[in-house]
Amino acid sequence: MGQSNLFIALLTLSCTLFLFSNSVFAQLKPNYYANICPNVENIVRGVVQQKVRQTFVTIPGTLRLFFHDCFVQGCDASVIIASTANNTAEKDNPDNLSLAGDGFDTVIKAKAAVDAVPSCQNKVSCADILALATRDVVVQAGGPSYTVELGRLDGLSSTAASVNGKLPQPTFNLDQLTSLFAKNGLTRTDMIALSGAHTLGFSHCNKFSNRIYNFSPKNPVDPTLNKTYAIQLQQMCPKDVDPRIAINMDPTTPNTFDNVYYQNLQQGKGLFTSDEVLFTDRRSRPIVNLWASNSAAFRSAFVTAITKLGRVGVKTGSNGNIRRNCAVFN
Ligand code: HEM
Ligand SMILES: *[C@@H]1O[C@H](CO)[C@@H](O)[C@H](O)[C@H]1NC(C)=O
Ligand SMILES: *[C@@H]1O[C@H](CO)[C@@H](O)[C@H](O)[C@H]1NC(C)=O
Ligand SMILES: *[C@@H]1O[C@H](CO)[C@@H](O)[C@H](O)[C@H]1NC(C)=O
Repeated sequence: MGQSNLFIALLTLSCTLFLFSNSVFAQLKPNYYANICPNVENIVRGVVQQKVRQTFVTIPGTLRLFFHDCFVQGCDASVIIASTANNTAEKDNPDNLSLAGDGFDTVIKAKAAVDAVPSCQNKVSCADILALATRDVVVQAGGPSYTVELGRLDGLSSTAASVNGKLPQPTFNLDQLTSLFAKNGLTRTDMIALSGAHTLGFSHCNKFSNRIYNFSPKNPVDPTLNKTYAIQLQQMCPKDVDPRIAINMDPTTPNTFDNVYYQNLQQGKGLFTSDEVLFTDRRSRPIVNLWASNSAAFRSAFVTAITKLGRVGVKTGSNGNIRRNCAVFN
């Protein structure tokens, strides 16, 4: 086979794969449960609202859980599986995810409420419940509402080993962030929009202590950090801080889903290198500047990006099932 024939063969193959994967996506649809469990959205929303009243951590905990679920083996609730004697699950990867327990609890409680309705029992996947709960926490925090595509099945495997290399690190630069998101079918713009989730929630001090104590031999403090903010971070996170201490990631409006995250980046108040680099790198700065001044543009980009995130690695057919207990394989 000549080189050009080989090229055409590969092109045909990749087009076939592309069409195939698109047809998998096509099975997700907003009204998937219309005839199966028509009230599912209200049931999940009710549980989320009640849990948010009990603890605010429900909001960032659930949002981050969805992201981690989708980036490791697709949006299939594999992150909810608990470890057993013969299997160390995703959530216990030693490269610790430090996922807040309230995210898991939200899904378990919503599943129980859905299954309490006889016609819905064992008909709604944990993966779809997590996708719905994620939309609901975003709305509860003042973020945009959006239609959630449904029809995911729950995955059949969850291993700690499968997490390695799949999640972004807070030390990543723009190219590392862009390439990891690209592996999940997400563009750089999607990545910048999804990073806006750091408008909510907490970080442990060790995730950014390098930036305030030992950045480089010449600059112990990262020069891209706002000087006033760096001092505040040093006060909240002294060198010998209790490792359980976590601080707000958005120092300005920590409990609101808004575009202040991007305004913070303009002022050198991005907590992680992976946040601040979105402003310091010339290639992404125009989008940060746009969304810092235009909330509607950010909200619309976030909805596009989180909808695409929800399509990553979706399981259908024999690749999944509907788990009876979200934390245990059937
Ligand atoms: C762009 C690359 C990203 C990196 C490097 C990153 C890294 C981190 C780190 C290190 C933490 C702190 C964890 C801790 O100390 O407990 C965190 C928290 C969080 N992340 Fe990200 N993340 C990224 C993208 C995302 C995305 C795409 C979402 C969701 C759409 C997200 C949602 C969250 C939330 C809500 C929290 C707060 C969790 C809580 O308060 O329990 N992150 N992230
Ligand atoms: C774990 O071990 C038990 C008992 O040996 C077995 O029944 C089960 O199928 C195993 N589970 C997995 C995931 O290998
Ligand atoms: C990692 O997560 C597990 C399970 O959530 C927890 O028991 C363990 O203490 C965590 N380890 C570290 C080093 O944070
Ligand atoms: C740093 O933060 C202070 C206080 O919040 C703010 O007034 C200042 O403009 C910021 N500096 C820069 C360079 O953005």
